[in-house]
Amino acid sequence: MAKLADAPDLGSGGVTPVEVRVLSPAFFRMTNWNPTTWQEAQTTQQPHYADSEAMDRAVEALSKLPPLVSSWEIETLKSQLADAANGKRFLLQAGDCAERFTDCTPERITGQLKVLLQMSLALVHSTKRRVIRVGRLAGQYAKPRSSDTETIDGVTLPSYRGDLVNDIAFSELARTPNPNRLLRGFERSAMTVNFVRALIDGGFADLHHPEYWDLGFVDHSPKASEYQAIIASIAESLRFMETLAGESIGAINRVEFFTSHEGLHLHYEQAQTRQVPRRDGWYDLSCHFPWIGARTTDLDGGHIEFFRGIANPVGVKVGTHEVEMEKLLDVLHPNNEPGRLTLIHRYGEKKVEGELPKLIDAVQATGKQVLFVCDPMHGNTQRTASGIKTRNFDSILSELEQSIDIHKKMGSSLGGVHVEVCGQNVTECTGGARGLDEAGLGDSYETLVDPRLNYEQSIELAMLIGQKLG
Ligand code: PEP
Ligand code: CO
Repeated sequence: MAKLADAPDLGSGGVTPVEVRVLSPAFFRMTNWNPTTWQEAQTTQQPHYADSEAMDRAVEALSKLPPLVSSWEIETLKSQLADAANGKRFLLQAGDCAERFTDCTPERITGQLKVLLQMSLALVHSTKRRVIRVGRLAGQYAKPRSSDTETIDGVTLPSYRGDLVNDIAFSELARTPNPNRLLRGFERSAMTVNFVRALIDGGFADLHHPEYWDLGFVDHSPKASEYQAIIASIAESLRFMETLAGESIGAINRVEFFTSHEGLHLHYEQAQTRQVPRRDGWYDLSCHFPWIGARTTDLDGGHIEFFRGIANPVGVKVGTHEVEMEKLLDVLHPNNEPGRLTLIHRYGEKKVEGELPKLIDAVQATGKQVLFVCDPMHGNTQRTASGIKTRNFDSILSELEQSIDIHKKMGSSLGGVHVEVCGQNVTECTGGARGLDEAGLGDSYETLVDPRLNYEQSIELAMLIGQKLG
């Protein structure tokens, strides 16, 4: 991919028509792309800032700050995702539905890291595949909403769009989109990334010490002994390999960790999108793996326009809106670059059987390779009789199990899972080994947007999918 600066001037005669014809369509399109071209497209789900100059100033300030991740890490992740598409690794993408600014605390961050590490151990153990750990973390601050406004007791205010935009409190001041939040969100993302890196570099994620990641799970869960057995067996394998090697094996002491969020707020993403020395293309350096939400997949929309130009591996949620797959792949995955595109399907347990085969067929018809991942959360949200948003553990598991079977039957494979989890003992989803029922939802229901699996449910899910895949 050529850098914009090196691109021939197609309009004014720098290149003859004959040369233009031999350029690939992808190259031709890239000459018309830069991090702001999305602004010319119809873009949904963006907040309305009354003071657009203040917004411009915030974007300008953001664009001068150092990035959160590097292009080296992004390329490493891309090659690991390519391995996952080939069945050699498995992607675990997990974290909050919406991070809150108040979640930027050591307890919360270690909680999320621990739950991801524990889930990944369960998956490694049974799938015998290396697991790529990607957090919905360090920037998952912007949320799509079904309506621009919310009305309570006759008062209508802008909807809450995530802490990056406004505050959940129902007052005019709190709900007015505030551009300074873009900077506050970026800073919290930086602090989160910094702490995660320090923990990992300092040995917290050392596979010899999984006890560092204990969440209290072992004390009282019905699944505790199963988890302990997994830990013991991994420790045993490590010792065995180290005995063979005669020393500790550096590369497996530490795990790697990547960050992701929905690339929804395009001014925010634009501000962190840079060209880097000695590499072609543009990188969105706000996280390693941004994804396009299910509501913003319109082929002519600003999100597709923005994402087509960045070199990161990208995800696309599929399930609520009709997507013309061939065209989508043409725009986002023109060169069939290994690891570039992940399709995250989220149909729900009742629809997956009818819809997933059509998706797989449509992708197979293009001859291109993508990584298929199942998000078993967003198609299974329900409300209880008293109006509480919840999800049931068995529905989540059922969508995952059906997905694994459907892929297998069609000569495809499920290469990962995308879930909303919490490292605390919240009560937001029903079911699981402890049989949380609707009456128990009120005990510790915290989420601002979607219900998450608590740590026991998360680890149980990882053990069950591992068994199904193993
Ligand atoms: C989400 O991942 O929190 C979300 C809003 O998902 P989707 O775009 O699939 O609805
Ligand atoms: Co969600």
